[in-house]
Amino acid sequence: MSLRVAILISGGGSNMVKLVESMTGDHPARPVLVLSNDPEAGGLARAAALGVPVAAVDHRPFGTDRAAFEAALTAPLAAVAPDLICLAGFMRILTPGFTRAWAGRMLNIHPSLLPKYKGLHTHARALEAGDAEAGCTVHEVTADLDDGPILGQARVPVLPGDTPDTLAARVLVEEHRLYPAVLRRVAEGNRARLDLASPA
Ligand code: GRF
Repeated sequence: MSLRVAILISGGGSNMVKLVESMTGDHPARPVLVLSNDPEAGGLARAAALGVPVAAVDHRPFGTDRAAFEAALTAPLAAVAPDLICLAGFMRILTPGFTRAWAGRMLNIHPSLLPKYKGLHTHARALEAGDAEAGCTVHEVTADLDDGPILGQARVPVLPGDTPDTLAARVLVEEHRLYPAVLRRVAEGNRARLDLASPA
């Protein structure tokens, strides 16, 4: 019986694609839904092309009522009964009520070496600070933003002349390696922290 994984996206879904593509063969998990808060998210078409059921709940009609938006997410999620939710480029802040309901069963990838640079604009902040390295983190989602137990990290060097975009592109390559590796470990019942070695 495979572990049922729902993936939440807001945009292009490059991390979602890597997660979906990894869940084949003897992998103990399978994707059961890709769900977006933006009906126009490019990742929805990419997920459909990979044969994964998709759904969208536009967050805009709910305004600032985050709980109402999350209640609207409950129907498409309940329809597929996921064992695990992966946030992958999902750009909405979730309420403590939602994160509590999914405690231990919801992962996120964040483009910094947490606990450094929680929140947005992580690459610009790392460059501003003159950091020698940057990277990404997969963590369990808790009520506090970008703050849950770390399940994995991957590091990249900051290079002379880097801009937020060049650094983001270098980190994204590692996100695409790290998230599938951590998902497989979690699906196998292993939550030990993974520090991904730099590619040879
Ligand atoms: C990635 O940098 C991810 O870390 C952040 O959103 C960006 C785009 O992700 N959360 P994706 O291409 O939509 O997966």
